[in-house]
Amino acid sequence: MVMSHAVIQKRPHEATVAPNLMDLDRLRSEWSWDAVRAELDLPDGLVNQAHECIDRHAAATPDKVAMIWEGSDGAIERYTFEEMRRQTNRFANVLKRIGIQKADRVFVFADRIPELYFAVFGTLKAGAISAPLFSAFGPEPVAERVRRAEGAMIVTTPHLLPKIDEIRGELPSVRHVMVIGHRAGATVDAANLDYAALMAEASDDFVTEPTGAEDWSIMHFTSGTTGLPKGAAHVHEAVVNHYATGKYALDLHPDDVYWCTADPGWVTGTSYGMFAPWSNGVTQVIYEGGFGAGRWFDIIERHRVTVWYTAPTAIRMLMKAGSGVPRERDLSSLRFTASVGEPLNPEGVVWGEEATGLPFHDNWWQTETGAIMIANYASMDIKPGSMGRPFPGITAGILDDEFNEVTEPMREGQLAIKTPWPSMFRTYWSDEERYRSRFKGEWYITGDRAKRDEDGYFWFVGRDDDVINTSGHLVGPFEVESALIEHPAVAEAGVIGKPDPIAMEIVKAFVSLKDGFEPSDQLRRELIGHTRQRLGPGVAPREIDFIPSLPKTRSGKIMRRLLKARELGLPEGDTSTLED
Ligand code: PRX
Repeated sequence: MVMSHAVIQKRPHEATVAPNLMDLDRLRSEWSWDAVRAELDLPDGLVNQAHECIDRHAAATPDKVAMIWEGSDGAIERYTFEEMRRQTNRFANVLKRIGIQKADRVFVFADRIPELYFAVFGTLKAGAISAPLFSAFGPEPVAERVRRAEGAMIVTTPHLLPKIDEIRGELPSVRHVMVIGHRAGATVDAANLDYAALMAEASDDFVTEPTGAEDWSIMHFTSGTTGLPKGAAHVHEAVVNHYATGKYALDLHPDDVYWCTADPGWVTGTSYGMFAPWSNGVTQVIYEGGFGAGRWFDIIERHRVTVWYTAPTAIRMLMKAGSGVPRERDLSSLRFTASVGEPLNPEGVVWGEEATGLPFHDNWWQTETGAIMIANYASMDIKPGSMGRPFPGITAGILDDEFNEVTEPMREGQLAIKTPWPSMFRTYWSDEERYRSRFKGEWYITGDRAKRDEDGYFWFVGRDDDVINTSGHLVGPFEVESALIEHPAVAEAGVIGKPDPIAMEIVKAFVSLKDGFEPSDQLRRELIGHTRQRLGPGVAPREIDFIPSLPKTRSGKIMRRLLKARELGLPEGDTSTLED
């Protein structure tokens, strides 16, 4: 990581609103999670994320707008906290009526429409576990995830329903498929539940399930080097971290209009596209559509967005579109901008200042940590290229290969977080052994490598495993390899992340063919088409090379590191375990 950029110093007189966090060291020395809990409602010691995010604000500020929704077609809808309370109560009543029990897994497979948000919070009110899935997934990743979590129900929309119909027969745990048809003007087949009809009959009143701090709330699937994605499960207590990081890392103030560009199929889209802003009682913009430089800056201008949370790939695409686009818009409402998900190039931080007048504040966390762990704060100087400093209440460390802490500045090692903290994941669903393997003594091992400088700023070095980060989305090579070898022509497949100037990495596959099949451009296109159909466009390989055989260890494991080294023309390293 380059450190040549000048530190971006904070000029306090420029701020229109005083940051919530004025002095990181002081707040750290005084930190108490109980003091944070005291700022939440937590009636009778119970905690439910839906209560903290919706009902408590519906009681205090019922007419305040919680969600400004903008559809892909430009339609705009506004929902107050009171309206959100009623809609989520209705959904919770519907779940009870159809027999959804506490801790049942309720999947949502939908684009970013208001009903997705009603469904997630209604599920939490009913005490069930919400599991949102990325709508661009193909049928295979959906089936893997529902199967692993033994999902009881899938909520979806008419245009995504064909993917569910394709896999439904493989998913015996699924008791109901519910279809949100009314937006598409579609009627719902009698084989499925009709969202609109059930919601119309449901009551506005619901008594939220009395969940405690350790009751399950949400599950997100994350990829590892081996095996299929794991369901990282979180508990209601996580809202304590969501609230605190919303307030101090994203600097949310009551009058903010906040926009997080992430999709709820990924953890950023729930922790920071639902829980952090709404536990802080803040109005947020939700945009259904995808990326577009002009469109995105229009949204900031139109809705007078004050705090904007996005990702490095998007920032690099905005940079590509040029500074002219933001200069043509009135972005004077913006007060704080932040980024997460992959390394943010120093150039991206600096470009933010040039284009919007504000540098992007990088921060670091993971599905497993549930909330921001390391951040650049509103009041703190930014070192472009650094992820910032640990959140108060969080201890981050650099460990050597024997898991001992390294205190010397700028020594590279494994990035670890000292346990526990409220939003820490509590298991990988049905894989307790793998969950336990992530901890060494008092440390949670993140799987990333990093360094800490003499001022306590952390610098990302890279992943410590073969997981691919493409546009901020983690892709497990095994999942892609499995889909490739389903094709009749493929004997073996090895998948790596290939560096890319925009997406950071793209998924690249190496394939050896079965006897009787010959490499050709047509077969390459067919394999890409096959994986796009099975996995979805974000997960399928963008490039495929045919090779006669894959490098393997003597025990038969594909050596992805060697494939990568060869691809990049790097030294091959230790090949002593390579089979003859
Ligand atoms: O490798 C790190 C990278 O993204 C991983 C976490 O991905 P996921 O579990 O999908 O969570 C996404 C929500 C943040 C990390 O292990 N990563 C995340 N933030 C950064 C980052 N890499 C470099 N810099 C960051 N700021």
